[in-house]
Amino acid sequence: MAKLKTKIAFLCSECGDDFPKWNGQCPSCKEWGTLSEFKISTKKNGREHEPRETKSLMEVLTTNSSERIPTGLQEADRVLGGGILSGSLILLGGSPGVGKSTLALHICSGINRKALYISAEESEEQVALRARRLNVSSEHLFLSGENELEGIISHIDRLQPELVVIDSIQTVMNSGLDSLPGSPSQIRDCGQRLLEVSKQKNVTILIVGHVTKDGSIAGPKMLEHMVDTVLYMEGDDRYDHRILRAAKNRFGATHEVGIFKMGENGLSEVANPSEMFLAERSVNIPGTSIYPSLEGTRPILVEVQALVSNANFGTPQRNVNGFDTKRLGMLIAVLEKRLGLVMGTKDVFVNLVGGLRVDDPAADLSIICSAASSTMDKSIGEDIVLLGEVGLAGEVRSINRLEHRLHEAATLGFKRAIVPTASVNDKVKKIKIKLYPVKFVKDAFTVLF
Ligand code: TYD
Ligand code: MG
Repeated sequence: MAKLKTKIAFLCSECGDDFPKWNGQCPSCKEWGTLSEFKISTKKNGREHEPRETKSLMEVLTTNSSERIPTGLQEADRVLGGGILSGSLILLGGSPGVGKSTLALHICSGINRKALYISAEESEEQVALRARRLNVSSEHLFLSGENELEGIISHIDRLQPELVVIDSIQTVMNSGLDSLPGSPSQIRDCGQRLLEVSKQKNVTILIVGHVTKDGSIAGPKMLEHMVDTVLYMEGDDRYDHRILRAAKNRFGATHEVGIFKMGENGLSEVANPSEMFLAERSVNIPGTSIYPSLEGTRPILVEVQALVSNANFGTPQRNVNGFDTKRLGMLIAVLEKRLGLVMGTKDVFVNLVGGLRVDDPAADLSIICSAASSTMDKSIGEDIVLLGEVGLAGEVRSINRLEHRLHEAATLGFKRAIVPTASVNDKVKKIKIKLYPVKFVKDAFTVLF
């Protein structure tokens, strides 16, 4: 009789690497205090290794069975690169309550194929109630509260679904391992098994994962390396809109975003995000301006608000929502040094309306002009958009995809645009919007004030 041996190993919760000895610092990723002990059973859970066959490229190309299945949500399709690819492994991350389960359920019903929803987190009744709320009544959708890995795999074998949702990876477990669900060793093992299943049976598996405080998917980073696509859902409790981003995509472009609105009947698509973000826009108030931001390849118009007031305490405040605080500090220094406005004794507050976060240098000009507009108490015209990166010399530098951004502005009825001279080309000139090319921030001020 073969003796069942167990081996002790130490696993890093950051990178998923394992080591024979404990260390205070992970030798692989150099994180501190991330190693924890777990037992590996050498019996390998009864799985024998079957050698896989070798195929020629032409053979694989001609018998390629992978197809794109539309999810019924165009916003999701775009992020996925044109629908769900059969046989792929997708990870969907997001903070609790952002709407991951809701989106997964929408996708299950939208694909109109046989789907299995494993709700290890909620009971079947809870999922069914949610499905009723979302008006999902798909005959092809099956629910199960199973949270044991082998059980899940046997359900997949029996049902032969085309899509499986695992909600969430932190709650499923392999009972062959003696660690708790959600521990790094469980997540690593379950992820690996699900990867095998998806590739062998050509079934798409969507894994839902929670994120930690710093915003990365909880559990070993390895999970992100294993899967084909990593999606993140972002949003703020205070706002209705949710943004879906691809952080990694083996079968499509990253940087694409999908925009949804969370309502009473679940998520709905936002086909025209600019209109949504500008819905409550303030006109003729000093300190506000419009900036065409870019989310992925989509231009979205946002309102930038700045409020500059005299500081009551020694150190003036610099407070910003949706933009980098350090960058704001730099822009204020440019205002002071290059444009002669006294900012040292002022509190400066900047807000990108609607809770959007941008990490785009093209927002600089709009922010600096809004701050100046508030300082001088002169409002910026309501039919103008501002674009450009601002350099330390007070120059306006070129930006990417000017044409797309201006198209969106023109579509929404904006008549004028201040843009970096260096970004203007023939295509841009054809757009029905009056251009004011500028080289320095002071030239923009001449146009505006
Ligand atoms: P959920 O999908 O359960 O989030 P996650 O799986 O990411 O934790 O969504 C939960 C939130 O969404 C909850 O606060 C209620 C809200 N919600 C709606 O506003 N409308 C709806 O139709 C549904 C289903 C949820
Ligand atoms: Mg959930």
